[in-house]
Amino acid sequence: MLILCVALVALASVANGQLKSCGQAPGVVGDLDARVVNGHQSADDAWPFVCSLQQRPGGSHFCGGQLIQNTAGVYYFLTAAHCVTNGQHNSYQMRCATNNRNGETGSQLLYFSNVYRHPQYNPNTLNNDVAILTLSTQPVNANNIGPVCIASTPEQPGINGVVMGWGTTSSGGGTLPIMLLEGHKPVVSDADCTRAYGSEFNPTTMMCAGMYGGSQTPVDACQGDSGGPYVKYRHGRWELIGVVSWGYGCADPRYPGVYADAYYYRNWISTQIGGLNNS
Ligand code: ARG
Repeated sequence: MLILCVALVALASVANGQLKSCGQAPGVVGDLDARVVNGHQSADDAWPFVCSLQQRPGGSHFCGGQLIQNTAGVYYFLTAAHCVTNGQHNSYQMRCATNNRNGETGSQLLYFSNVYRHPQYNPNTLNNDVAILTLSTQPVNANNIGPVCIASTPEQPGINGVVMGWGTTSSGGGTLPIMLLEGHKPVVSDADCTRAYGSEFNPTTMMCAGMYGGSQTPVDACQGDSGGPYVKYRHGRWELIGVVSWGYGCADPRYPGVYADAYYYRNWISTQIGGLNNS
């Protein structure tokens, strides 16, 4: 009996808290040619870091977000500050390792023990729209779950990224998709984003993506995608470059999507979690 117990404890510690390479997406081949609003369904288990943030109880989806890990292998959840309220961790749950936000074989339902919004988060300007949630239990290690990397270089306008989430497929669009959607869109320069939004856009803490100007309908995040990832493929891994934050409408070529700039927040994030696992 004693031997059995020891064996179980050993198994549990192997499965949990294990350091894992960040930004791996085994279901995605290279910088996929994909094309949210005007997106398409993600491949099965394509994105091991994205999770659906949901009301508890009930499980209704309201925001996205991504798993990050510290250097001891402990997972945390990074989302937008406007999605959450400090102290309300018992009102939330998240569904990870899944494309179906209601769950599927191999998905994991996880809970929280703390919410920490950026102390300078401003709900009026949406400046510093980032928050870190502590998990009450760690996920079980599996191929379809893992942390995202955080960009360690600033963004170049024009490079292509992928945004994903369970948000609406049109501005003001009613029902949320059940399956994860993703779309490709380029980084927009700070100059163009300032042209679009004036002083509402803070080029230090925010970044923009989409298409600025022109008559094409861009790919964009929309309501319900907030907190979720905008990632780029670099050196064989997926790096978070933006956290979905805000925009005027969705997929409007005059108004690109605005993101909290992950590169700008990487040191803050790392400090909060006791050292970011970024390799
Ligand atoms: N604020 C929205 C949310 O809470 C996200 C809006 C993103 N909008 C955009 N056009 N990219 O889900």
